[in-house]
Amino acid sequence: MEQSVFDRVGGWGFFERLVEGFYVGVAADPILRPMYPEDLEDSRRHLVLFLAQYWGGPREYEELRGHPRLRMRHQPFAVTRQARDAWLAAMMHSLDALRPEIGEDVYREMSDYFTMSARQLRNV
Ligand code: HEM
Repeated sequence: MEQSVFDRVGGWGFFERLVEGFYVGVAADPILRPMYPEDLEDSRRHLVLFLAQYWGGPREYEELRGHPRLRMRHQPFAVTRQARDAWLAAMMHSLDALRPEIGEDVYREMSDYFTMSARQLRNV
């Protein structure tokens, strides 16, 4: 059986570091910061669980939050081109910092995925 990306990157720790770095970017961004709740703890946890599940890890996101329905969950927020670019920049900055610890194939897969899904979630 083929190993999941979740296993290939070493499991939870990688996703926790990726999301931690991402939210450092969110916290510093003038467009993104006001879109998120003041306390980022739940946002952080939901994104870790979602990404771990997406990349083949335990299905804890679904247990906690139900079906992802990401487009619907982003409907309350004005995801403009600027917000999309800021989101992607924060994620890519965090992913780039972890690049040495994941293989180039996984790096490419993840950057393609984030680019594509951020594009799809733009709603304004
Ligand atoms: C395109 C720009 C994006 C913006 C501006 C954005 C913004 C947000 C905001 C404001 C929230 C609510 C946070 C909260 O209430 O805690 C959220 C939730 C979330 N976003 Fe995004 N997002 C974007 C793209 C993405 C992408 C590309 C993904 C996945 C790859 C994603 C995954 C999630 C998840 C999993 C949640 C939590 C959903 C839940 O409530 O269970 N977002 N996003």
